[in-house]
Amino acid sequence: MAEKLIEIRNLKQHFNVGRPNLVKAVDGISFDIYRGETLGLVGESGCGKSTTGRSIIRLYDATDGEVLFEGENVHGTKSTKELKKFNRKMQMIFQDPYASLNPRMTVADIIAEGIDIHGLANSKQERMERVYELLETVGLNKEHASRYPHEFSGGQRQRIGIARALAVEPEFIIADEPISALDVSIQAQVVNLMKQLQRDKGLTYLFIAHDLSMVKYISDRIGVMYYGKLVELAPADVLYKNPLHPYTQSLLSAIPLPDPETERTRRRTSYDPDVHEYADGEEVQMREVSKGHFVYCSEKEFQKLQKQYKN
Ligand SMILES: Nc1ncnc2c1ncn2[C@@H]1O[C@H](COP(=O)(O)OP(=O)(O)OP(=O)(O)O)[C@@H](O)[C@H]1O
Ligand SMILES: [Mg+2]
Repeated sequence: MAEKLIEIRNLKQHFNVGRPNLVKAVDGISFDIYRGETLGLVGESGCGKSTTGRSIIRLYDATDGEVLFEGENVHGTKSTKELKKFNRKMQMIFQDPYASLNPRMTVADIIAEGIDIHGLANSKQERMERVYELLETVGLNKEHASRYPHEFSGGQRQRIGIARALAVEPEFIIADEPISALDVSIQAQVVNLMKQLQRDKGLTYLFIAHDLSMVKYISDRIGVMYYGKLVELAPADVLYKNPLHPYTQSLLSAIPLPDPETERTRRRTSYDPDVHEYADGEEVQMREVSKGHFVYCSEKEFQKLQKQYKN
């Protein structure tokens, strides 16, 4: 039985953007992340993927709900020391490797930031040795340490961002669209580096993405978000083979197919939330239709889905 590293319980992140507007960016989502897995998170722009990631690592204080990391609540009152401990275990890699690296800092200082904050090196020499080691780990080299971010390509900058995250030896990394800003030819290299690092270090990833084919390639399980809610969660291959929520179906129907003939004749579906016709007070929640395959639905929809389920 896989070990739960993170448990997210009814997490809500609402933003008050001036009365009467309340943006329910994340509106009551629950899921687990198992140690060593990659959980992909997909959904259209603005559905709350980044906010979910940021709330998990407490870049925001959650409006409601809990995030348990190894059984301990990340939110709630915490001492500076406890917060530092979480910060070390959970790191983030960002979409834009241009904006997320300080242009005035050398690569060595960027990578060593976490080492300095957490006092992980006993001497200047040890600090530099660690930086050299990290550069090598991400496929760069020693000579890069004294250079500045603008001297690197997008893919190399993302490698620097990965080295910075790895510097504090985290257990969990949130990668928020880490390859979306890169050339297609570079994307696979960065994804493969992430996979390699996961194998070597037993890392756990939350991989936020737009590109549904890449997310399938990297993820063990995939969660689909729609307007602040998680609407489906399943092992990656199951989700692609047997999507159950109409929103997931429409999302998958938009992926171009490799065969031009099937591509020409296939049907794209669009999602209409009105298809559900829920009665007032009807409880809509994540329900396990088949083992490990969860769908956001009512009891009535659940019964129907179970009857039709193709194993
Ligand atoms: N700090 C904030 N203050 C107010 N509203 C916010 C804030 N951050 C996000 N939002 C809003 O919350 C919603 C979800 O945003 P979020 O960035 O999480 O979406 P996303 O799924 O990551 O989108 P994208 O694919 O474009 O990155 C959006 O409506 C966004 O405008
Ligand atoms: Mg985002």
